[in-house]
Amino acid sequence: MNADYQKVISTVYAEILTQENIGKVPDYIPEIACIEENKFGVNYTDLNDNSFGCGDFQEKFSIQSISKVFALSYVYEELGEKLWKRVDVEPSGNPFNSLLQLEADHGIPRNPFINAGALVICDILLEICDKPKEKMLEFIRNLAEDDEIFFNEKVAQSEMENSFRNTAMCNFMKSFGNIHERPTAVIDLYCHLCSIEMTCEQLSKSFLYLANGGKKPSDNTSVLPFLKAKRINAILLTCGFYDESGEFSFLVGLPGKSGVGGGIIAILPQKYCIAVWSPKLNPKGNSYRGMKFLEKFTTLTGETIF
Ligand code: DON
Repeated sequence: MNADYQKVISTVYAEILTQENIGKVPDYIPEIACIEENKFGVNYTDLNDNSFGCGDFQEKFSIQSISKVFALSYVYEELGEKLWKRVDVEPSGNPFNSLLQLEADHGIPRNPFINAGALVICDILLEICDKPKEKMLEFIRNLAEDDEIFFNEKVAQSEMENSFRNTAMCNFMKSFGNIHERPTAVIDLYCHLCSIEMTCEQLSKSFLYLANGGKKPSDNTSVLPFLKAKRINAILLTCGFYDESGEFSFLVGLPGKSGVGGGIIAILPQKYCIAVWSPKLNPKGNSYRGMKFLEKFTTLTGETIF
């Protein structure tokens, strides 16, 4: 079925606007707590560069954990399969900031999308790059074909001042030998990556390589080989929404990733990427309206990976 995506997006967007906006903006990062909670943007981009958006789709927001996908993609391509000795690919079934399984698992995080896994990825970035912050911005700007992508220093600082749990996790993994660099440097890089700001329009374009077997569709350059893109999509499906990954798959049926800034990116391989932003989060830390929107979107288009 080839849906009229633009029509479906406008219909679902208008319908969701009429419904109560449930959830809470997270209050543990003061710079994010003050965001206007009824912001709502959606942007669709496909492999033929058709792109359209609704609402606040050109407004920047904190991409938070969505940045974990960019970091993983870069590190996986640089390091290859030995990456999986330091981080696993299993769903954790636990909240994103949980320390619960780390001791039993000898400091090996369950997957790269929980905080522990992303901290290991940041540690590797510090090991393999001279200037990891600059490298990641360059990587993302190339994907988005847009240089107007930056860290928000205030968000990064405010997160660093409140990063007691992430710091504990990082030190704990260091005690198992799975963090090689200084924990303070790892936390600094992690908080900066979380603070990157992008619009829904930039996000949906920059994720197209995962819809296109690892290649940027605009110029056919390889970001990742097909096998690696396939595997990242698989981890997104099983781990992209922490202990709500099963629910997202059940309701939406696409690989995707959320962030506590209220963003969600979802991918239909061989077809499109869609980014949604709405800051109020459900109790599992995923955007309430973002999930509602995507559930209705895939139901009406009749297309999922299943
Ligand atoms: O580590 C943290 O607490 C966050 N700044 C990033 C977490 C995040 O976005 C998890 N998402 N749902």
